Amino acid sequence: MEDIRRLKVAGRIGPVEEAVAEVLVLGAWEGEGKLLRQARRVDERAGGRIKEALASGDFKGEFKETLLLYTPDGSPWRRILVVGLGKRGDITLDRVRQAIGTAARKVRDMGIKEGMSLLLGEAPGSLDYEDWVQAQVEAAALATHQFLQYCTKDVDKLKQLESWTLVEPDSSRETIFNRAVEKGSALAAAANYMKWLQGLPANHATPTFLAEQAKQIAKQDGYKCKVMGPDEIRKLGMGAMWGVAQGSDEPCRFIILEAKVSNAAPWIGIIGKGVTFDSGGLSLKPAAGMMEMKYDMSGAAAVLGLFKGLKNIERRVNIVGAIPAVENIPSAHSTKPGDIHTSYSGKTIEVLNTDAEGRLILADALTYVARTYEPEAMIDLATLTGAVVVALGHYAAALLSNDDELIEQIETAAERTGERVWQLPLWSEYREHLKSSFADIKNIGDSNAGAGTITAAWFLNEFVEDRKWAHIDIAGTAFWDRDRPYIPKGPSGYGVRLLADLIRHWEI
Ligand code: BES
Ligand code: MN
Ligand code: ZN
Repeated sequence: MEDIRRLKVAGRIGPVEEAVAEVLVLGAWEGEGKLLRQARRVDERAGGRIKEALASGDFKGEFKETLLLYTPDGSPWRRILVVGLGKRGDITLDRVRQAIGTAARKVRDMGIKEGMSLLLGEAPGSLDYEDWVQAQVEAAALATHQFLQYCTKDVDKLKQLESWTLVEPDSSRETIFNRAVEKGSALAAAANYMKWLQGLPANHATPTFLAEQAKQIAKQDGYKCKVMGPDEIRKLGMGAMWGVAQGSDEPCRFIILEAKVSNAAPWIGIIGKGVTFDSGGLSLKPAAGMMEMKYDMSGAAAVLGLFKGLKNIERRVNIVGAIPAVENIPSAHSTKPGDIHTSYSGKTIEVLNTDAEGRLILADALTYVARTYEPEAMIDLATLTGAVVVALGHYAAALLSNDDELIEQIETAAERTGERVWQLPLWSEYREHLKSSFADIKNIGDSNAGAGTITAAWFLNEFVEDRKWAHIDIAGTAFWDRDRPYIPKGPSGYGVRLLADLIRHWEI
């Protein structure tokens, strides 16, 4: 099984008049009353109708406002779609992604198959030209991605965009423009691949399936991939991970991907929670909403997505990706509340709630990566707690870390990519909530003590062997129920672009 539908994104250098299209998208700033030079040329060919719309006040260029025009005979474009960029001073990379995403989806919904946009002028102010181009490419590809694999009826009637072309009239920019287009389209494809993995139902996206995907990526791009099964996992002493996996008939997998640049380069560990279905185990979840727990492998999907896009990311660090993949299911073999397991680290864990399973599999994966690779830093992504949705909703992931520099770097990457993070504290008082009467630690905090996201992170912190480490709780950002300007509802692909940006700018 493979994600076959992919929007083709291309760059085109040269006069915009020569770029014939069903529709041309261009941008306009709010409150400036005039168009940018290139857009003015377009407007001349369109009989001055954009200028007219601006002059009349019918179209103001407000952020995400759109104006659809039909052009006179002889124009290279049948339609022009102007999208408002808002005030020039307010522009950010994320706002440009939102504007382009809005326009691209409009184009798709008109039933047009080939979209085209004129590069939205100069990158204003502090924005870097390359980032500016990349953001516009990413947005078109992310906004229009659809999951239609299981739709077998009337597929021809579905509106699907096939290609998007970004036009840059200034040929002196060619090299850097082409590089940005290629990078943006590769990263969007990697994020869309993550969305595809997320969207697959749990009867198809099993731990074995994730391992097969990892092997395919490794083979294609020349990485090393190692996959361990139940026997090896037990033999290694990964009792915390096995404790979750033991209830399911679906065999667990511990997946390791290595992308090395050199022997001298430091390792960075990226670890993703791969619970392919989280029923809660014997501490069973309520039926309402349980279907969403097919998304509980979103951290794993982010790691796979990152590796899918990795060859397009300049970097000076070695990357190891680690995915503990399991199904959390109740059965006669399941862990029972009160059971005690010995983790890979040697620490014993009292499992008081089998629904706090993510931290168990991550504990063993973190210790394994710490001991095997002695990485400069480890970052884990996990749909770990419902509590983070209470705290931050769906617009930011929680960031918890034992290292200030790492926090700063992740925050900067989040700023650039629009994949937001918000730091929560790891004060030592919270650690008290994990004291067990019978084992070294228990897997849930004291009841009624709150701070579920923080105690979960504290639990992980016990297994990182004093490595620099950051935990990103993506339970709120991995998927949700409404459309955003360049992320359609459903699985979000959150994390691929964040990690890619972090690795590209790695500095510690
Ligand atoms: N996978 C869930 C967390 C989750 C909740 C992800 C909502 C996405 C959306 C996790 O394994 C879990 O069940 N956490 C429990 C922990 C509790 C038992 C301490 C939770 O948050 O309720
Ligand atoms: Mn759970
Ligand atoms: Zn879970």
